[in-house]
Amino acid sequence: MAKINIRRYLLPSIITNIYYMLRFKCYISLKSEIQLSRNIMIGEKTRISSFVVMKVNEGKLRIGNNCTINSFCFIFAGEKGVDIGNDVLIGSNSSIHALNYDYKSREKHIVDQGTISKGITIEDDVWIGANTLIVDGVTISKGAVVGGGSVVTKNIPPYSLAVGVPAKVIKERV
Ligand SMILES: CC(C)(COP(=O)(O)OP(=O)(O)OC[C@H]1O[C@@H](n2cnc3c(N)ncnc32)[C@H](O)[C@@H]1OP(=O)(O)O)[C@@H](O)C(=O)NCCC(=O)NCCS
Repeated sequence: MAKINIRRYLLPSIITNIYYMLRFKCYISLKSEIQLSRNIMIGEKTRISSFVVMKVNEGKLRIGNNCTINSFCFIFAGEKGVDIGNDVLIGSNSSIHALNYDYKSREKHIVDQGTISKGITIEDDVWIGANTLIVDGVTISKGAVVGGGSVVTKNIPPYSLAVGVPAKVIKERV
């Protein structure tokens, strides 16, 4: 059976969320589930809605000031971390995974091949539409907009609008 950290396993999310709110001066819905970890940092006035789940390993999850993370988002910081700037909006049901399974070998099952993590960066003033998947290794640069339902597999340049699967730039902010 997998090793369980008993203290974290038994601690109700409500206690963790209140602790984070007092520590970071942010708002977190009591219905969301944020792992208790020194590797999570949340900026002032950031709002985290209901049913958001955030997890970390060795990597850090840093969220800047005045961000909004809407309901049902999932963020996993993997080994290399997720860095979110200030004034970032993330639409509901979006997923940010700073990790991939290594799948190259046919000799082993994927589950036995380990994971690879490069990290994800989302700079200031970015808006990510609902239902977006952001895969490991990308940077979404300052002021960019990602349309709802996109899959971001490559870096998005500053102040551009990218949409689709995979997300492609279709125009720039004026
Ligand atoms: C991207 C978005 C902001 C529209 O921006 P816009 O500047 O008004 O863009 P337009 O509507 O003029 O669309 C430009 C083109 O992109 C396409 N497009 C727009 N949004 C798209 C999307 N999410 N996925 C794929 N294509 C999209 C349009 O069909 C249009 O294509 P065409 O030129 O072939 O007709 C909007 O469509 C969107 O995705 N909003 C996210 C809404 C959301 O998630 N809200 C939750 C609040 S956090």
